Amino acid sequence: MKFRLHCQAMNGKILNVGLLFGGRSGEHEVSLRSAASVSRNLDPDRYRQVLIGVDRDGEWSLQGRGRFRRESYGEVLEILPRRPPVSVLPGRGLAAGRRRLALDVVFPVLHGTFGEDGTVQGLLEVAGLPYVGAGVLGSSLAMDKEKTKEIWRQAGLPVLDWVTVGDAAPASCAAVLARFPLPVFVKPATAGSSVGISKVRDAGALAAALSEALRFDAKALVEPAADAREIECAVLGNADAVAFAPGEVVPRHEFYSYEAKYLDPEGAELRLPADLPEATRQEVMRLAVAAFRAVEASGMARVDFFVERGSGRVCLNEINTIPGFTSISMYPKMCASAGLAYPRLLDRLLELALERHRRRAALQFSLT
Ligand SMILES: Nc1ncnc2c1ncn2[C@@H]1O[C@H](COP(=O)(O)OP(=O)(O)O)[C@@H](O)[C@H]1O
Ligand SMILES: [Mg+2]
Repeated sequence: MKFRLHCQAMNGKILNVGLLFGGRSGEHEVSLRSAASVSRNLDPDRYRQVLIGVDRDGEWSLQGRGRFRRESYGEVLEILPRRPPVSVLPGRGLAAGRRRLALDVVFPVLHGTFGEDGTVQGLLEVAGLPYVGAGVLGSSLAMDKEKTKEIWRQAGLPVLDWVTVGDAAPASCAAVLARFPLPVFVKPATAGSSVGISKVRDAGALAAALSEALRFDAKALVEPAADAREIECAVLGNADAVAFAPGEVVPRHEFYSYEAKYLDPEGAELRLPADLPEATRQEVMRLAVAAFRAVEASGMARVDFFVERGSGRVCLNEINTIPGFTSISMYPKMCASAGLAYPRLLDRLLELALERHRRRAALQFSLT
């Protein structure tokens, strides 16, 4: 696939790009890593970076030039304390103290709650700023695994069966166990990075797994455990979204847990491209775009699948509207292997953000 260089959107002008990173989320640390990679890869001839850190309490502050820290697994962009607080000026962007920040576009490099779930997207809408990735609706739908699955199922897309348990959907362990044979997976409806997820092998462990998941959200999902390969597919674009050749994650743990993802450097192997029969590869790419459209995502998303061992049946698992973005993360790697190197991927995402904003700005929001 060939990609044009999309300079025209920027008219040769240096763009002021706000990077929002950190966040009030179980994935705070992951965001610091993603942000380090994004910051390092933004072309300085085209962009001026404005680093805005979001601490664990959700406070925003202007980070100046930023400080990088090298960890065993790579670089993180630190959040420095006692920096000028950043606030939203409705309709007029963002401000640091009393000073309005010059910003053309914002990249929320935030994973999980209060970042990937539509809340920050809502703030940026109110501020009137273009931003990378899905809008409010797409972000919040994609963040909620129950709503995502309902929408996909309604659209005729394949998902694993599930039951929802929580305050609004009380169910006894006995009722859950009557529905699915063990093992089952129990997960919070809205979380990420495998936070709060357990595989339950015996009936006695279900109650504890549910309480664990319900620490992170008021709703938990219980699903049959798929005996499946884990396939991931990058989608890029707005109305014209395309899917790239899928990759495979091969966890070396019981499942693709938080440890396997982030703590154990040998926790999982990423295979790119995934070794799949041609028909399955096509099916995954087709379903990835359909899944992206169904939740009204935009800009980018990584759509994750189960491909059942034996039957080869393809099933959607989840969609991440702000996927891991370190240079060794699956999303940028899938784009790179299609010929879109990391810095060019950033160009494209920023351009898609501006395009989406222009379209929305052209809409009429009142009768006069
Ligand atoms: N129903 C399932 N069957 C098999 N494995 C599962 C199932 N649900 C989750 N997993 C395992 O748990 C991991 C994390 O679950 P996932 O639903 O993708 O949540 P997260 O948003 O935290 O990544 C998956 O990558 C997979 O390894
Ligand atoms: Mg996942």
